[in-house]
Parts: sequence; structure tokens; C-alpha cells
Amino acid sequence: MKILAIESSCDDTGVAVVEDGRKVLSNVVASQVPEHILYGGVVPEIASRRHCENISAVCQKALDDANLTLSDIDAIAVTYAPGLIGALLVGVNFAKGLSFSTGLPLIPVHHLRGHVASNYITHADLRPPFLALIVSGGHTHLVNVKDYTVFDVIGRTRDDAAGETMDKAARLLGLAYPGGLNMDKTCANGNPKAYSFPMPKVDGSDFDFSFSGMKTAAINTIHHAEQKGESISVEDFGASFMAAVVRLLCKRTDAALSLTGNQKLVIAGGVSANSVLRKEMEKLCKKRGVRLYMPLLKYCGDNAAMIGSQAYYEYLAGNKAGLKLNAIASMDIDKN
Ligand code: KG4
Ligand code: ZN
Repeated sequence: MKILAIESSCDDTGVAVVEDGRKVLSNVVASQVPEHILYGGVVPEIASRRHCENISAVCQKALDDANLTLSDIDAIAVTYAPGLIGALLVGVNFAKGLSFSTGLPLIPVHHLRGHVASNYITHADLRPPFLALIVSGGHTHLVNVKDYTVFDVIGRTRDDAAGETMDKAARLLGLAYPGGLNMDKTCANGNPKAYSFPMPKVDGSDFDFSFSGMKTAAINTIHHAEQKGESISVEDFGASFMAAVVRLLCKRTDAALSLTGNQKLVIAGGVSANSVLRKEMEKLCKKRGVRLYMPLLKYCGDNAAMIGSQAYYEYLAGNKAGLKLNAIASMDIDKN
């Protein structure tokens, strides 16, 4: 079954063709980073406008790259939640138009389920059940993936997401958007012990995350240094900050592995590209004898191939939409 998938939940316009959930026939992403850099972050109105301008050409390129026409496609899939509402609406309405004009079924896909599926297109042998750590710009979740469309959220952030926290700390250091990515590039070889950041305690849960304390500590450290006329080593500060974020992610993941007894761990989302996180997760999984699955770097950030993969399993589970499908800005991964 060949699925044409559309992703427009944030600032990447993506269209892909994926066969039977696993084989990526094409994957086109039009990035808007150069424009949003000017503002230090994603400007929702600009993102929506660029999606409108790009989506037809990106779709045509995805078909061309796969050497296919619309008549070869069996279903249309689209990210409908969660994300920036104006951005999501562009993809959802484009997908509805395609479904209406071709008569093909329309499959609604939850963005975070798509991130998990980035591992299905990377690892042919991966099947649920497994534990997933989803770390993106907007979300930080520990999820027991019981089946392709059955999710049990074990832990989540109580405040900022991991990516959002890194983006904010990077901005304080004068690094360009996307901050997490640039912090990784600039600071990976710095001294991770040069600065210290507090490990949060989260009331009532061993599995929930909180990043606001680390963010405040970062702001205070930089302000105090400025007031005293001291300089901050960007490389060492970034390395120490990444180490603190990763330490928390690993600690909660370790606890969730003990809770669930899962023998497989999947990491997913934009932050799963982080070099420190990948190394530390490898160490953790080796120590526990757990098999680690990480997406190829090209599938860590937002893309439509992961949506096309998850869509296949949604379709098999009977999750289809009609022309009344709407975009939804915020939705839990276990809802659909
Ligand atoms: O999953 P994603 O592409 O978009 C959302 O669904 O939010 O994640 C974007 C986030 C941004 O915060 C970006 O800074 C972060 O992923 N990111 C990274 C790296 N690459 C992207 N964070 C740390 N290290 C990276 N290498
Ligand atoms: Zn994402």
C-alpha cells in the first residue's frame, strides 16, 4: 500500500511516499529555517504562509522522486495534531482536497506517533511493544508503546520541553535558531563539568520531567557573570547544559525501563539527534542489557516519511477521516 503523507505542523513543509509503513519511496522537506533565524524562533504566521506557498511543489516533487503519479497512490495521510494551528490547517486542507479529488481514503496522524514511527523506517525489525522517549521542541514524553496504535503515557514534562529548554539556553549564549541543534554543533567538545545545573525533583512522580529550574539557573549564571564582568565559555556552558538535560532524560528513562520491564528502548523527536543524548542512551542501554533504537539523523526532525509510516498502521487499525477532519493544536498521544 502506497501512502502519500503530508506534514506541516511547525516550520517544515514535508511530503513523502511510503510503502507498507516501512519503505520510503520519497521524502521531501522544504525547511524554513533561514527565514525564522531572523526572529530567533518560529513565527507562526510566517510558517503558515510558507506552507501555503510550498506545499503543491513539495507534493509534486515527492511524487516525481518516487517515479509515481497520484493514480499510483492508495491513500492520503496528514498530520492533524498537535502543532501550530495555522500551519497544521494548511496540510490538513491540502490533504482533504487531494482525498476529495482522487476519492482516496484520508488517514489522520498524530505528530508524536509519527516521531515514534521514524524508527520503523530506520529499523526494519522494530515492532512494539517498547518504551519510547519522545523529545521534541514542544514535547517530552515517556510512553509505553504497547502496539502500533496503543500508547500509555508514563511520564511527561510539567513545564518546558527538552528542545524548547535547549533552544532557550542556546539563545542566551547567542547561538542561532534552532538553538538545540547549534548548541550540539558548537559545544559537543566543551567541558560538561564546567558549570552546574540543578536536577529537579518532581512532586508525585519518578517519571515526569521539569526543565524550568535548569533554564532559570542558566539565566542567573549568565546574568551574574555579566554583572561581575566575567566571560562565559559558550562551549563549556553549552556542554554542561546539554549534560544536565541529558542526565535528567536518562534518569527518568532508566526508572521507566525498571517500571515497565521493557527490553527495547526507542528514542524519537528532534532532540533525539543530539550527540550527547545518543551516547548516554547507548551507555544506559548497554548497562541494562536493553536494545536501543534511534532514528537516522534525517528522520529525527520533522518529516513526512515518519507520518506515512505511522499512517499505514493507523489505516490497518481502522483510523480513517472524512472531509470534516479538522486540525487540533493540542492532543495527547493516546487520543485519536
Ligand atoms: O521534532 P522537532 O523537529 O519539532 C517538533 O516537533 O517540535 O524538534 C525540534 C527541536 C528543536 O528544539 C531543536 O532545537 C531540537 O529539536 N534539535 C536538537 C538537535 N537537533 C534538533 N536539540 C539538540 N541537539 C540536536 N542535535
Ligand atoms: Zn516534531
